[in-house]
Amino acid sequence: MRIACIGGGPAGLYFAISMKLRDSKHQVDIFERNHADDTFGWGVVFSDQTVDNLMANDPASGTMVRDEFAHWDDIDVHIHGQTIRSSGHGFIGIGRKRLLNILQERARELGVGLHFESEASSDLHDWAGYDLVIAADGANSRIRDRYQEHLGVDIQVRRNKFIWLGTHKVFEAFTFAFEHLPEGWVWAHAYRFDDDLSTFIVEMEPETWERLGLAGMEQSEAIDWCERIFAKYLDGHQLISNASHLRGSAVWLNFRRIVCGTWFYRNLILLGDAAHTAHFSIGSGTKLALEDAIKLAEVLNRPGLARDAALAEYQAERNLEVLKLQNSARNSTEWFETLERYLHFEPIQFAYSLLTRSQRVSHENLRLRDREWLESVERWFQSKARGRPVNEPAPPMFAPYRLRDLRLDNRIVVSPMAMYSARGGTPNDFHLVHYGARAQGGAGLVYTEMTCVSADGRITPGCAGMYAPEHLAQWKRVVEFVHANSSAKFCLQLGHSGPKGSTKVGWEGYDVPLDSGNWPLMAASDVPWSPDNQVPRAMTRADMDEVIDQFVAAARLGDQAGFDMCELHAAHGYLLSSFITPLTNRRADEYGGRLENRLRFPLEVFRAMREAWPAAKPMSVRISANDWMGELGVTPDEAVLIARSFCDAGADLIDVSAGQTWAECRPIYGRMFQTPFADQIRNEGHVATMAVGNIYETDHVNSILAAGRADLVAMARPHLVDPMWTLRAAAAQDYRDVAIPPQYLGGMTQLARNLKRDQEMAAALKA
Ligand SMILES: Cc1cc2nc3c(=O)[nH]c(=O)nc-3n(C[C@H](O)[C@H](O)[C@H](O)COP(=O)(O)OP(=O)(O)OC[C@H]3O[C@@H](n4cnc5c(N)ncnc54)[C@H](O)[C@@H]3O)c2cc1C
Ligand SMILES: Cc1cc2nc3c(=O)[nH]c(=O)nc-3n(C[C@H](O)[C@H](O)[C@H](O)COP(=O)(O)O)c2cc1C
Repeated sequence: MRIACIGGGPAGLYFAISMKLRDSKHQVDIFERNHADDTFGWGVVFSDQTVDNLMANDPASGTMVRDEFAHWDDIDVHIHGQTIRSSGHGFIGIGRKRLLNILQERARELGVGLHFESEASSDLHDWAGYDLVIAADGANSRIRDRYQEHLGVDIQVRRNKFIWLGTHKVFEAFTFAFEHLPEGWVWAHAYRFDDDLSTFIVEMEPETWERLGLAGMEQSEAIDWCERIFAKYLDGHQLISNASHLRGSAVWLNFRRIVCGTWFYRNLILLGDAAHTAHFSIGSGTKLALEDAIKLAEVLNRPGLARDAALAEYQAERNLEVLKLQNSARNSTEWFETLERYLHFEPIQFAYSLLTRSQRVSHENLRLRDREWLESVERWFQSKARGRPVNEPAPPMFAPYRLRDLRLDNRIVVSPMAMYSARGGTPNDFHLVHYGARAQGGAGLVYTEMTCVSADGRITPGCAGMYAPEHLAQWKRVVEFVHANSSAKFCLQLGHSGPKGSTKVGWEGYDVPLDSGNWPLMAASDVPWSPDNQVPRAMTRADMDEVIDQFVAAARLGDQAGFDMCELHAAHGYLLSSFITPLTNRRADEYGGRLENRLRFPLEVFRAMREAWPAAKPMSVRISANDWMGELGVTPDEAVLIARSFCDAGADLIDVSAGQTWAECRPIYGRMFQTPFADQIRNEGHVATMAVGNIYETDHVNSILAAGRADLVAMARPHLVDPMWTLRAAAAQDYRDVAIPPQYLGGMTQLARNLKRDQEMAAALKA
């Protein structure tokens, strides 16, 4: 094959090497606009896994690269005058220039045609003599941009400003240094990659950059400024730029996140940064470029594989890897973009939050890396929670939590789940067993299902209610069992179905209207949930007064039943949610329009309930923090205001759910997918939050809590299949100080013993 490679960066060079290794008859020409020794940037970092891949692909260059790596284990976080050091992170780094020289040498040895100072055409017609044209021309690829409509190019320019510099100061640890100036925060990411060189990237928010007047500065002035700001970390060393002589180099950059829907068009194939980018804060761009190169060379040389099939496989496999990494990279980018949220954390928690920002590193990963440090975090967390020094480390999930006069034993919550098993709103033995079992399972707090404040406020005929004496009597029985047989606290969730009422029970079809016996619906406006659902009547003032009275009456009954806490359900498209989201609130009066108006009725309900509910007992509000409809619906930024408004009215906790407010919304679903909203609300709105949504591992829970992303963690479906989730988590973490029903003690001891033995055996096998 005759192959032209546009760009002699890591992607182009390594692809050429990988092709020649597989078949020396290939003719591969690299066209690089710069001189062989010209390069931008400083060091690149790899993981051990990348080095293994390089060794397997080409031991000759792999060995040279491996032998030149600088290794380091520690990360230092400098914040608020303290330095937090953690270890075991295992990075390896090499100078970009050195990496390129090694690859150039190897490419030459294998007979690759290297054409430096050669500006390549971005017109495929000019490459007629070649079978394949490889776009390895980096993030600003001109040939990709020229054919962008065929390649589905999506470029997002991120908001922060950064400058990529180097220094002869040798940083022994990967260093994050945060400095507070009157104009805002600026920070550096610094790491050694050579015997006497380190990369030094300075980053800040665009507003800070504007205020500092950096836009108008020459490069040398900007560098002098950075040296002054970070002088105490540089020990007299200068900061240096090596990009000034290269074409198109800018002093301050914005990171450009690139995604391509298709990676090839005719005989043009995208490789490396031309196809995708990953934010520098997770340092994986070069790794991805090299791994792309290996895969592309492999499929193009696989006997019997047609070119189209080869390219389809290349794209499918690499795209998946890239998407996973870009997901982590996005989390990491956003963390730095929303840094203000975390600056009020104590340094140890700030460092924990920084280390876990991409969500690829979890609590248990940190334990493996540096047990001693992780245990210091656990001790800190427990000490804060208990208000006294704690010497023994313990999982964050087993820290107590206080809401008004209510003390929860731990941070695990059984999320509200409709059971559709009541008759005429009256709970029965099913509810006794269901809630009793979950309370005995060790969770600190158990929520009831959405319990409806009126017969017409039910979602289905099977929904539980709190509007009749028999409801009170039966709920009292359940509450008494829970209190007598567990240390769990019990929260009554009260709601009104609004436009989503009069439907079948869950297992007969969600939100499907009843075949017969439907009751009339009401909502903020006459907007049906779907074309198949009834059109609700827009509520009048008299309706509102009646509903407020119903919520108040239900809250009073809840108190009489002995519930410890009460939640107002204002999420998921039900009555109160139908007011909050602009998608269903079309009112022209003071209850519609801007957010303040849309919140007016839900707040009236809440305030009336808060009056009726005992002051010593806490209240929470469940909200949908994102309608998943962009600016058309509630956004996470608005959710912060919604949460603040409820807390100003006396709510103690915001239960942060999302969506289910508009039938066509399409949530971006994944592990812990709603937790970012709990994080934003907690740390921007300064209110206590409960995270929920696809959280299912102990490691998720501990990571969320220790990183300060939420105060409590609720789980719904995990508790459906395992009422004993919390006790099992305690056994798995060898944590003993948990309330186990005495009848079950033997089982727990045995489980803990077995799990410990299994863990030890797994560790021994691994060793
Ligand atoms: C601040 C910052 C820090 C980073 N840190 C790391 C890190 O620590 N670890 C890591 O792995 N990655 C890091 N990266 C990313 C890394 O630099 C890229 O992901 C990697 O270089 C991609 O390799 P590439 O060969 O695809 O593209 P590039 O390295 O960009 O190479 C493209 C080449 O094509 C040449 N070229 C472009 N157009 C033409 C043309 N028309 N004609 C001829 N030649 C052309 C360019 O001169 C260049 O040499 C960082 C990036 C930034 C911005
Ligand atoms: C069967 C079932 C019933 C639910 N009923 C309610 C409910 O009554 N009130 C409520 O606020 N959320 C309800 N939810 C939503 C859950 O509380 C939770 O937010 C959601 O399931 C995501 O958490 P998970 O991933 O842990 O299941 C229900 C969920 C399920 C699975």
